[in-house]
Amino acid sequence: MPSVSEIAQFEGKEITLKGWIYNFRSSGSIFFLQFRDGTGRAQIVISKSEVSAAAWGACEKITIESSVLITGVVKKEPRAPSGFEVQGTSVTLIQRAEEFPISKKEHGPDFLMDNRHLWLRAARQTAIMKIRDEIEFSFREFFHQRGFVCADSPIFTANAVEGTTDLFEVKYFDDVAYLSQSGQLYQEATSAALGKTYCFGPTFRSEKSKTRRHLTEFWMLEAEASFMDWQENMQLQEELVVYVVRRVLERRADDLKILERDLTALQKTAEGNFPRLHYDEAVSQLTRLGSDIKSGDDFGGDDETILTKQFDRPIFIHHYPVNIKAFYMKPDPEDSARVLNNDLLAPEGYGEIIGGSERIADLALLEQRIKEHNLPPEAFKWYTDLRRYGSVPHSGFGIGLERTVAWICGLEHVRETIPFPRMLNRLTP
Ligand code: 4AD
Ligand code: MG
Repeated sequence: MPSVSEIAQFEGKEITLKGWIYNFRSSGSIFFLQFRDGTGRAQIVISKSEVSAAAWGACEKITIESSVLITGVVKKEPRAPSGFEVQGTSVTLIQRAEEFPISKKEHGPDFLMDNRHLWLRAARQTAIMKIRDEIEFSFREFFHQRGFVCADSPIFTANAVEGTTDLFEVKYFDDVAYLSQSGQLYQEATSAALGKTYCFGPTFRSEKSKTRRHLTEFWMLEAEASFMDWQENMQLQEELVVYVVRRVLERRADDLKILERDLTALQKTAEGNFPRLHYDEAVSQLTRLGSDIKSGDDFGGDDETILTKQFDRPIFIHHYPVNIKAFYMKPDPEDSARVLNNDLLAPEGYGEIIGGSERIADLALLEQRIKEHNLPPEAFKWYTDLRRYGSVPHSGFGIGLERTVAWICGLEHVRETIPFPRMLNRLTP
């Protein structure tokens, strides 16, 4: 059965479409039905004089979001966004929708989020979901082309990766387990088996943050490669982001248009050449720009916003202070107070979308760090084994899908980037 996205192939022919009516008006003898089927939107024109009494009767019963089966002839219509419309020959009502809660008037974000299961049908929301899909697909395509093997990490875990304060604890038979905060440690094992691996799945953090950048359940792609150093790691991240942005620009131009996305920063990003700033350089820039950040502090969301507005494309910040970063990051042999890590900050005020680093390869140092971070050594026994049996220099990173979607789509808040967001105050629908 044809869909709206294929309509151009059927010019002059009769087709049957299945879908929903998202709006309509009537002039007495003509109905203009605004039809959508998920693949696209088209206007259907029904003339009373050209359809059966049953079809006209069906039109008169139509309400917003009623489901329908429509037959009609595809006609060229230069004024229509798709370039075509359908001259209906028959209309069947599948289900007459009750009064749709979402109307054309302004609704607040809470109301829309409460009705997320219905709001997803809106043109902007479907455009965001299609861009999200394109990003997910191109992530996998990029890594597959480069010989990375997808080796997914578990969700139930026995230990913390990114600090112990924001773990979700769940009952696990007679014991407890934690929902994964990061699949990284397992990627260090799989990359020692396969060379280069990645995982891509849901990630959980019970951060009590009510910001536009935080979800409690988000999707993260984490890549890890044996023998890759911290600079090659940044290069790989840059190539990934360039690849994904180019793909979206090429394949999702219509959806970006629906979102009225200004493409300037995305086009600059597609050129590559992301600036790389040492942490100290970033702090001095921020100080000059009026931030009260002190050397040794982590960047707040506002700092990232101010800093990224100085550049026309994403920027790397590397060499963060060792004591504000995770236990597994390798200190710089030339500056033990700094680690060989990086964040990637998206432009236009979006801030961090990637965190990555070279990992500690030395057993004694890793054991010392686990102790300093008060992590239970038994839970990390398997992880330290990786430094006992053929330890190699290796690096990796994690890119947050929702923050990437928010930036590429130009959205205010990550809550619109995932079909059903999970946040501090939201577990439904
Ligand atoms: O910087 P993070 O915490 O890094 C890690 O988890 C590393 N283990 C990754 C690695 O090296 N394999 O998180 C990585 C990214 C962030 O840059 C951000 O994009 C996203 O995950 N992220 C969140 N996205 C939405 N809501 C949250 N609460 C997020 N926390 C992190
Ligand atoms: Mg981070």
